[in-house]
Amino acid sequence: MKILVAGGDGFLGSHMVDRLVEDGHEVAVLDRFPDNRTRHLGHLEGRVRLVPGDRAARETAAEALKGQDAVYDFVCATNPAVSWNDIPLEIEQNLLPAVQFFEMAAEAGVRKLVFVSSGGTVYGPAEGAADEARVPLPVNPYGIVKLACEHFLRHVRAKRGLAYDVYRVANAYGPRQSVTSAQGVVAVWMRRILDGEVLQVRGDERTVRDYVFVKDIARLMTHSLRDLSSSDTFNLGTGKGTSIVDLLEIFRRVVDVPFRFERTPRGPSDATVSTLDSRKLLQHYPGFRFSDLEDKVRETWQDFRARHRCA
Ligand SMILES: NC(=O)c1ccc[n+]([C@@H]2O[C@H](COP(=O)([O-])OP(=O)(O)OC[C@H]3O[C@@H](n4cnc5c(N)ncnc54)[C@H](O)[C@@H]3O)[C@@H](O)[C@H]2O)c1
Repeated sequence: MKILVAGGDGFLGSHMVDRLVEDGHEVAVLDRFPDNRTRHLGHLEGRVRLVPGDRAARETAAEALKGQDAVYDFVCATNPAVSWNDIPLEIEQNLLPAVQFFEMAAEAGVRKLVFVSSGGTVYGPAEGAADEARVPLPVNPYGIVKLACEHFLRHVRAKRGLAYDVYRVANAYGPRQSVTSAQGVVAVWMRRILDGEVLQVRGDERTVRDYVFVKDIARLMTHSLRDLSSSDTFNLGTGKGTSIVDLLEIFRRVVDVPFRFERTPRGPSDATVSTLDSRKLLQHYPGFRFSDLEDKVRETWQDFRARHRCA
């Protein structure tokens, strides 16, 4: 298939690109490429078409969307912490451009758009593993806008026939995660260790997250390509909660350099316990097992250390 990955030079997007190329698809990547070059796709030079530019720019988006069968949209301008303090930014940068892009995809004749929502924020601060039947009650503007995007996809499907899938993804981690963003505790801690800074351990035994390895996410999101006419919403997390204290213990076993940490209270934008029930998606992958957290934190640490040495 011909597939466009918007935001495909980022963390999740680049792993999706790897997966799609491996599966034999013809892949184009629309990204701002902030460093004026690809950060994560150099190894695919000549095998993917790069379309540099802003997803919000109509000409760029139109060029990228032309002739595509499906689109994966990974573009995002904020993170939950930024969004908590800047609602207008969240609406301007994440809602309006996304909805405009959905309509343009429909106009261009794309058959399906795959959108990445946020399993950690759309459900709001409720206990227990959420399944898709739980009524989403987000309190963070980031989750509110993600949910609004999900609703607008339903609107665009009704009005223009664009099929869509939504994946409400849990806490992703793995190689290539941004070290500059405040999102992603695994990446943030690794960057701090490599720079000799003190780790901030925010929260306690009740601060529980569902950490899911990025390559597992990319593999499971290929489900959307099995039927380009269907539309659905899926959780994508392991269903297993790990507290911030347990994660620190994993770091102590895996990280082979000394590091310092300090405990700080939970922030107002953090849900206490956030895990996802993904059985609806997993029924399509009989026998699938999520990667082991400790193994993959080790693999991620090795990747971060190698990149840090190069830098
Ligand atoms: N990282 C996580 O834990 C996580 C969890 C759940 C959902 N998500 C969602 O997954 C998506 C991707 O997240 P990520 O962590 O890979 O982020 P990322 O910042 O690594 O990737 C985003 C990419 O989009 C590009 N981009 C940003 N604005 C753009 C624009 N206007 N036009 C073109 N390109 C633009 C960036 O250059 C970057 O390459 C986001 O929608 C995010 O909300 C992420």
